[in-house]
Amino acid sequence: MKQSVKMIVGNWKMNGESAGLAEFEALAARLKSDPCRVDVAICPPATLIDRMRRIGGPAAIALGGQDCHAEPRGAYTGSISAELLVEAGCDLVIVGHSERRQMFEETDAAVSAKTAGALRAGLTPIICVGETLAQREAGEAASVVRGQILGSLHDDLTGRDWALAYEPVWAIGTGLTPTLEQIAEIHAAARAAMVERLGEGGRIAPILYGGSVNAGNARDILAVAEVGGALVGGASLKATDFLAIIHAAELALVAADAQG
Ligand code: 13P
Repeated sequence: MKQSVKMIVGNWKMNGESAGLAEFEALAARLKSDPCRVDVAICPPATLIDRMRRIGGPAAIALGGQDCHAEPRGAYTGSISAELLVEAGCDLVIVGHSERRQMFEETDAAVSAKTAGALRAGLTPIICVGETLAQREAGEAASVVRGQILGSLHDDLTGRDWALAYEPVWAIGTGLTPTLEQIAEIHAAARAAMVERLGEGGRIAPILYGGSVNAGNARDILAVAEVGGALVGGASLKATDFLAIIHAAELALVAADAQG
């Protein structure tokens, strides 16, 4: 991916079917005719990756997996390795999404192993962390995120070959978001934990915010300190909604330039 400040990644989850390709086609066409400085990626269901690649996605939009197995190959029915994602046309992969942590009981150690698998294959891992509502209400948000970061990162991570995504579980798909102050607080705590775990190399990777990002709130969220982009679920499924978020990221870049 290009080296830039803001990264906008769409996570289609188990949505899209073939009809979603029309949305992707519209998005790709728009970004080709009107290039932007923002790094844009879509992580579709695995069955759509190759079809998106053929539509010409990679020229304007990087493609990513939503998960990978830690091993390169073998008898792991139903799983996809990072190597297979690369062959299909991916540049990146989401690991440790809260839906996988909760529904598939993925541990920090499993996420760390998947991170190593992604790096081995040459994919950019986006490592997800985030607290539940009960943890936030107990005042544990920052400590939970720190613990997930210490456990889920991997020694093989260096500089900018990866991203963290802070996604509060209670903000995903609910229309709820933390306040801008709360986002700033957790992103600062996440950065400190990244440096604690990796040393100076932990200062560089972007920290994305995810959880009910939409065209209306993206600009404010993307202007928060240490918010290096967004991981977008529902609002990434429609080209017009996703383009509005990409536009907000461009405006945030312009505003940052103006501040020097
Ligand atoms: P929503 O944007 O639909 O809340 O989903 C966020 C998410 O889980 C992205 O990975």
